[in-house]
Amino acid sequence: MNQEIKKGLAGVIVDTTAISKVNPETNSLLYRGYPVQELAESQPFEAVAHLLWHGELPSPAELEHLRRAERQHRALAAPVRAAIDLLPIDVHPMDEVRTAVSVLGALDLAGSGSVLDASGSAEENLERAIRLFAALPAIVAYGQRRRRGAPLVEPRDDLDYSANFLWMTFEEEPDGVVVDAFNRSMILYAEHSFNASTFTGRVITSTLSDLYSGVVGAIGALKGPLHGGANEAVMHVFDEIGSADRVEKWLDTALAEKRKIMGFGHRVYKNGDSRVPTMRAALDSLIAHFERPELAELSDALEQEFMERKGIHSNLDYPSGPAYHLIGFDTPMFTPIFVAARVTGWTAHIMEQAEANALIRPLSAYDGLAERHVTDWTA
Ligand code: COA
Repeated sequence: MNQEIKKGLAGVIVDTTAISKVNPETNSLLYRGYPVQELAESQPFEAVAHLLWHGELPSPAELEHLRRAERQHRALAAPVRAAIDLLPIDVHPMDEVRTAVSVLGALDLAGSGSVLDASGSAEENLERAIRLFAALPAIVAYGQRRRRGAPLVEPRDDLDYSANFLWMTFEEEPDGVVVDAFNRSMILYAEHSFNASTFTGRVITSTLSDLYSGVVGAIGALKGPLHGGANEAVMHVFDEIGSADRVEKWLDTALAEKRKIMGFGHRVYKNGDSRVPTMRAALDSLIAHFERPELAELSDALEQEFMERKGIHSNLDYPSGPAYHLIGFDTPMFTPIFVAARVTGWTAHIMEQAEANALIRPLSAYDGLAERHVTDWTA
């Protein structure tokens, strides 16, 4: 067979999208035309969710409408909580989140009868997207509290999305610096074109399956350390190294063992991840707030040393892992937070795919044994 195989679909353009544009040449990322840095510096996460779903930033009335809908679905539904409680306490929280979303979807779709009814209209899908957007903070927060043997905290109607997320997790009204850094991280994580998890969601949607199934599949893809799991892995690397003065020696060993250093490199960006400076500024504000300069020293030392030796830039997971650590989350909770952010982008893509659908079904080049017959087989 004389066909070029694009392993990992690298460089293959499989469809158009109007949701975001990643431009590695200019090192830019646009959500519906807006530079992500501008959005992170000026908007609440709810407004960016609206932008991704509808194509425009919300008017004050539209933002209020979304916030009202979000508040309405914030509380952890009793059957979802019961399903989480059935899981052992030491499951990975990504498995918890995947299970919870699956249960939420099953409950919502109960009575839909046939698979033909499940895919949903554009309006139904938007409602489902808002429901997931609103429900995920409670799922993640409860997962964090369960790990620490702490009871559920009910949402607070007087707080916006990010402040309420942190309230449900820590049962403390968060400082403005912390809310701002967290809000920025959610916006930076919200969308990134045809990455592995988004593509998974689109593949599932292309079979006319339902939005919840698309999100459950996307969560599974995000769990991998080559994708979302990297923010968790970065913190393990920091723990392993310990302090800035140990970076050189640690890197000697890691590179001799041909290890991939988590938080560095990117399939698309080869000259640096456009989201890093904004997230690094958010991390710096947290480092100053919590008075943890040694974390900045370690982060800088590893980044500089790795750049000198391999010429590879850090990606968004590199500053976001330590940021979530400083906010107070346990390391395994980092990727579930990414889910709560990326669910906005995933659902925007699922709706876009559904609107102009074509079944995604590539070809493969067979390189197994030539045809043979059972009658020729001898033990
Ligand atoms: N640590 C060490 N080496 C790395 C590296 C890393 N984080 N990222 C890339 N490289 C090296 C590769 O080993 C390869 O070297 P080689 O040519 O000598 O074999 C070269 O750089 C090209 O990398 P490649 O793996 O082909 O790039 P990719 O586009 O397939 O992979 C990632 C991109 C993200 C999967 C990869 O950079 C990686 O594994 N990073 C760590 C995980 C991570 O942070 N993921 C989050 C992404 S947002």
